[in-house]
Amino acid sequence: RSARFTLHPDFTVGEVNPRLFGSFVEHLGRCVYTGIHEPGHPTADAAGLRTDVLELVRELGPTAIRYPGGNFVSGFRWEDSVGPVDERPRRLDLAWKTTESNRFGLGEFIDFVRKAGPEAEPMMAVNLGTRGVAEAIQLQEYANHPSGTELSDRRAANGDKDPYGIRLWCLGNEVDGPWQTGHKTAEEYGRIAAETARAMRQIDPDVELVASGSSNSNMDTFAAWEATVLTETYDLVDYVSLHSYYWETDGDRDSFLASAVDMEAFIEKVVATCDHVGARLKSDKKINLSFDEWNVWYMEKPNPHQVEDWQEAPRLLEDIYSVTDAVVFGSLLIALLRHADRVTVACLAQLVNVIAPIMTEPGGAAWRQTTFYPFAQASKYGRGTVLDVRVDSPSHTTKKHGEADLLHATAVRAEDGSVTVFAVNRSQTEALPLTVELAGLGLTTVVEHSVLADADPEARNTLEDQDRVTPHAAEGTSLTAGSLTATLEPLSWNVIRLA
Ligand code: AHR
Repeated sequence: RSARFTLHPDFTVGEVNPRLFGSFVEHLGRCVYTGIHEPGHPTADAAGLRTDVLELVRELGPTAIRYPGGNFVSGFRWEDSVGPVDERPRRLDLAWKTTESNRFGLGEFIDFVRKAGPEAEPMMAVNLGTRGVAEAIQLQEYANHPSGTELSDRRAANGDKDPYGIRLWCLGNEVDGPWQTGHKTAEEYGRIAAETARAMRQIDPDVELVASGSSNSNMDTFAAWEATVLTETYDLVDYVSLHSYYWETDGDRDSFLASAVDMEAFIEKVVATCDHVGARLKSDKKINLSFDEWNVWYMEKPNPHQVEDWQEAPRLLEDIYSVTDAVVFGSLLIALLRHADRVTVACLAQLVNVIAPIMTEPGGAAWRQTTFYPFAQASKYGRGTVLDVRVDSPSHTTKKHGEADLLHATAVRAEDGSVTVFAVNRSQTEALPLTVELAGLGLTTVVEHSVLADADPEARNTLEDQDRVTPHAAEGTSLTAGSLTATLEPLSWNVIRLA
């Protein structure tokens, strides 16, 4: 059994927006405290940022970094998070039942983003759970207005003379979810999102705004929520958000490996809903998609760490990812790239310690999880134009997602004409021979075929064995007479670079 597809430079999906490789820093567990920020750590800089973590973040290559939540944002009082650190209030965080010290806040986050790599930019969420229009525009004025008002001068007095220049803003988070502090109906949220957007555009017509979509596609209100919210906000926002997490249940690994079938269907349903609203409103404008929370997350597994309520920075959501998780994760990246024409922002949730590609120990090491590698490779090589990939692949039947191709793939052509193929073999047992016809692309060389796979699909990187899983080079991949041949190991993530 083998798989094949054809690439041609004239058949394209669209340009990759660098923001497709975004990530997410929430005040949750140890993402911020002892994750990115730990004054006193041997590697901490003068601002208390862990430079060992910053180095890994730069290697990972995230672009838009969403902050400060997540569910946390629905109780966030931005003004608590600025000014002299010792005067900042301690608050209950109802979302995660923790105590927030506010020792890290808006200014520290901007400093982190500026150090997080040349493409990193802040993506700020405003609280539309327990707050509203007034607080959103105050935050915007504090962050972005140059000077000469009480709020912009307060920023300067707090040490940041230059405005933060935040372009991308989320209007609340998962407001459709009953768990959200300040949960609302679609009508209630649509109104407050519209009025907040209108006011934010009065300050700056060029801000880019994300309306909060459904928390996942299984919500009872899914699609109706988007339609109602967008009917209120269509002319005022640029994006609608999508969130989705995947995990293996009941030992059904074939379904888990096919998770991207669900993710692609979710994207297509949201695109259809956006365009339906646009048609009803007789608008030529297109709303794009911000897939601003995606990942593998074992949300049903009990926390292995004993955590009392109202602790500061406890160990929460510290999933340790296997090779299998990384292959699924890679397939989710492929799903995003395959829809790069409409998904123009996406955020891996999250960045450090909390369902994250980077783990740390307080006072100790920082290391790469298995999922680090697919993200870093996609962010580095998934730049340019996505080519239209229609695979001819053997398939198998999965319980959750029906018939699923064993091959999941995409290809990106860079400006210099080089092409990177990203491919996952979903078979747990069989190697998959692959042929790619690409005569029209003028390629002659296999620069690299990197594979993430392991004889033990449960292998993980841990504090004790930080490099147990790393990508290795594949053997036998060749390109002759415009035809690429490769063999994809069972249960593998592959990056094949051609020039
Ligand atoms: O990323 C973890 C949580 O998942 C976020 O806070 C929330 O938005 C989602 O439910």
